[in-house]
Amino acid sequence: MAITLKRIGILTGGGDCPGLNAVIRSIAKPAMSYFNTRVIGILDGFEGFVEGRMRELTKLDVTGIINLGGTILGTSNKGDPFHYPRESANGVTITDCSDMVLDSYRQWGLDALIAIGGDGTMNIAYKLAQMGMNIVGVPKTIDNDLDATDITFGHDSALQVATEAIDRLQTTASSHHRVIVIEVMGRYAGWIALGAGLAGGADVILIPEIPFKWGSIFDFVWKRSKGARYSIICVAEGAKPFDGEIVVKEKDTKRTDPIRLGGIGELVAARIQEETKLETRVTVLGHVQRGGSPSAFDRILGTRYGSMALQAASRGEFGTMVSLRGRDVVTVKLEDAIRKQRLVPPESQHVLAARAVGVCFGD
Ligand code: F6P
Repeated sequence: MAITLKRIGILTGGGDCPGLNAVIRSIAKPAMSYFNTRVIGILDGFEGFVEGRMRELTKLDVTGIINLGGTILGTSNKGDPFHYPRESANGVTITDCSDMVLDSYRQWGLDALIAIGGDGTMNIAYKLAQMGMNIVGVPKTIDNDLDATDITFGHDSALQVATEAIDRLQTTASSHHRVIVIEVMGRYAGWIALGAGLAGGADVILIPEIPFKWGSIFDFVWKRSKGARYSIICVAEGAKPFDGEIVVKEKDTKRTDPIRLGGIGELVAARIQEETKLETRVTVLGHVQRGGSPSAFDRILGTRYGSMALQAASRGEFGTMVSLRGRDVVTVKLEDAIRKQRLVPPESQHVLAARAVGVCFGD
């Protein structure tokens, strides 16, 4: 059923990533030019939605931004309207502010909202859709951990950054005959570590889906020290030993996901140096993976996602998320999109191919 969209809102939620602006552009340009729809940008994610911070976008706003990293709308990973953090005399109190979002949506006369984000954003979008808002989601995250799509945009760009970093570490590690550990992002999924580790030729790849044994890593790098004389270890921030816990950097109740991971790279490097006496260094790649221009792949995927999300909205297909299945962009129900995380299957072809070329997973 075709519906008239007089005004639509666009929101970017959660951590930024390359390709967000490509999506915004590919929603706003056709909306303004072909659908005669006014486009309202919601500023700073759900935080801005709760506070009613929005502005109408012009054609000029969305011109020349396809190659721009980050998001012209701003984003936040702290503004879950259903658990909204408010400062009070007693510290931070968490309240349900979802009615304020609904009020903002109505006050601005929105006929639909296109919410661009990861699992946190899609969970919120699902609950808001239940309250009556017309929502289409677009799957974003460098982590690639959304199950209902073959790939999220942003992941490919992050992989390129991490791969280039490993390339650079290879030359310095081999010159100094060192072990170099590189910690990459990815939360509870190992896609970035696995992809970049494979592409960059890492010798050891540690991912959350395959808990590792310390002894296997020590033996492996020790043997390599007698042959190639250096080793590169690519470790996902969510990786953990068989007998240990995930390493948490910080807990912050204001965040949609209160847990911030980080620190496993330092731990792995320290344990290797201690046990093997091999000279070891660590690089934590951090937010470099999220910054900068999107890859060609992410610009194209982002453009396809944005334009298909607008089309889905114009057909009245709400409560959905656009998704890549094979070669086609389709829509899936939001409730299916949030059902489970997409993790690396330990028997996947990626893992088997890596093992075949001699990669150690520490198991
Ligand atoms: O979800 C994207 C991501 O970059 C994760 O890989 C990482 O754990 C997290 O966000 C970092 O969050 P922040 O930007 O709040 O430090």
